[in-house]
Amino acid sequence: MSNDRTAVSANKDIATPEIIDLHPPEEAIRDLMVDGLGASSKTLPCRLFYDERGSELFELICEQPEYYLTRTELAILREHLPEMADMLGPKCDVIEYGSGSSIKSRLLLHALHEPAVYIPVEISCTMLEQAVANLRQEFPNLEIMPVCADYMQDIDLPRREGDRRMEFFPGSTIGNFHRDDALRFLKRSARFVGGGGALLIGVDLIKDPAELEAAYNDAAGITSEFNINLLDRINRELDADFDCDWFRFRAIWNPELHRIESYLISERDQTVHIDGETFAFATDERIRTECSYKYDLPLFAELAAEAGFEVEHVWTDPQQRFSVQYLVAT
Ligand SMILES: C[S@@+](CC[C@H](N)C(=O)[O-])C[C@H]1O[C@@H](n2cnc3c(N)ncnc32)[C@H](O)[C@@H]1O
Repeated sequence: MSNDRTAVSANKDIATPEIIDLHPPEEAIRDLMVDGLGASSKTLPCRLFYDERGSELFELICEQPEYYLTRTELAILREHLPEMADMLGPKCDVIEYGSGSSIKSRLLLHALHEPAVYIPVEISCTMLEQAVANLRQEFPNLEIMPVCADYMQDIDLPRREGDRRMEFFPGSTIGNFHRDDALRFLKRSARFVGGGGALLIGVDLIKDPAELEAAYNDAAGITSEFNINLLDRINRELDADFDCDWFRFRAIWNPELHRIESYLISERDQTVHIDGETFAFATDERIRTECSYKYDLPLFAELAAEAGFEVEHVWTDPQQRFSVQYLVAT
């Protein structure tokens, strides 16, 4: 795939931030895609949403009136960041997973007492490059060490011995992990920050299914476009022939598993070719593109404890739609 990664090396000689490139190899991405579509229940990995167009569309999703997540989390952060910064203490190393445009980390970095270094980890190298260029202007004295990588892999992040480490994982992105992956991710986080280190994490809460389904099926159709872009991306980068007009998008609440499931649904019997492989789709056959698990506070505390974290403080909005949680590694 000639994706974001190429953009980074192509721009190396202009005054761009040095990025530590631990991006997964292109063959691994192709194999993931082919394995997912070859399974009896078809899936595509949600991290492939975020090419340049996908990242733009995600920013638009965050502005949709039904998509309460970003607005609510930002309001909690704005109200409580001074208290959070006091708990996190001075001179800590800040690691953010899936930093995107770093909008929330900007607020955090302003609130923190003399942060020592900021390490954003992001799969979209183009997005990372832009965000870091802006941050360098806004925080000229802050050391920034951007890492272009898949945070689901065992990556060797920069570490400065002796510093207190804190991780920032907003956006309820933890909800996109199945339980085993969430546990593995949190265990790795707890090990990385070490005893006394912290994780500040955004966790979306279980609520009225109608409100959840509306948030993921916005009336303007941006989330639909975001999903269809995944097929477009495969067409562009793997020379595939998805006919995007014959897929529709739908997000559905699964009450047993406490998750929103996002699907692209085939509108007719059709065949798609991807890089030498053929995939048949029956009418109404679905590709699951994303799961967004929702938690209640005890359920998340249990998961955190199993991973080696104790929940020290939880902030929510007045309607208890969303939570920002301060976890300390035990
Ligand atoms: C839902 S956005 C959240 C962005 C930001 N943290 C926020 O809360 O607004 C998810 C971000 O994580 C990145 N991302 C998704 N999967 C990733 C992965 N496996 N490794 C690294 N970054 C990933 C995406 O490119 C995107 O910028």
